[in-house]
Amino acid sequence: MEIKGSTNIVGLIGHPVEHSFSPPMHNAAFKALEMDYVYTAFDVNPNDLKNAIAGARSLNIKGFNVTIPHKIEVMEYLNEIDEVASLIGAVNTIDFKDLKGYNTDGIGALKAIDEVTNIKNKNVVIAGAGGASRAISFYLAKYGTDKLTILNRNVDKAQKLADDVLSSALIDDVSSDDIRNMDLDDADILINTTPVGMHPNVDDTPIASGELMHEDLVVFDAVYNPNETGLLKEAIKAGAKPVYGIKMLLYQGAESFEIWTGKKAPIDVMEDALRTTLGF
Ligand code: ATR
Repeated sequence: MEIKGSTNIVGLIGHPVEHSFSPPMHNAAFKALEMDYVYTAFDVNPNDLKNAIAGARSLNIKGFNVTIPHKIEVMEYLNEIDEVASLIGAVNTIDFKDLKGYNTDGIGALKAIDEVTNIKNKNVVIAGAGGASRAISFYLAKYGTDKLTILNRNVDKAQKLADDVLSSALIDDVSSDDIRNMDLDDADILINTTPVGMHPNVDDTPIASGELMHEDLVVFDAVYNPNETGLLKEAIKAGAKPVYGIKMLLYQGAESFEIWTGKKAPIDVMEDALRTTLGF
């Protein structure tokens, strides 16, 4: 990639950022489409966030991805927030054209699942009630999921998220429960947003066993390292269809790419780059 006087800059802001897989994924896409863009990462201390956004505007930076710990606070410095990002209360993508914030995490998960099944009119069980669950839940509601059950260790947190999603009026059947009461008999899709099973505790699963699963179930694990988590292994054993966490990374990135450039993201190229970076 040749960096010239005309090269457009996009990037990631977070703290820390050095282990991000987004630079290789986006730079591979720019290279494949011969676009005069470069993607880099900026480690921004929380005290400097406001200055970073103002500075990026002055430097004519085209777009940012935003990661921990800036996803919520950054909204204060934007002119506009996309409707679903505003309901979620967190932004992971900024388009500097109009200083608008988006959240592509949830749509990333939906597109990952969409490779296997459409979420419309489905009965979805989601494990976890943190930031990832929040982002995915609002998108499920927006795109026509029929029934959503949010399960968490801390049931109050699950109930709070269920109340928030219900008050969006995008869906009318949302409930919460203790994760230990998981029941998948009537579920079409199970989504894990907890970190259970993440490297190095690769044999842990957020549910006791695959015995709860059935052949018509789709199981999506937002954990992407390892590629095939304990939960996905159980799913495969039970005859359920697995959806791998790497796909959510891929599609959230693709969505950001399209927001910044207006061009269709080269999914295959981005997936190859991501797999090379992650080593699978
Ligand atoms: P993220 O932004 O990735 O969603 P988070 O906001 O820290 O991360 O949320 C993590 C979620 O995983 C929470 O719902 C958490 O449950 P609690 O609210 O009860 O803490 C859940 N979680 C974390 N570790 C867990 C574990 N060992 N077993 C079950 N749930 C767990």
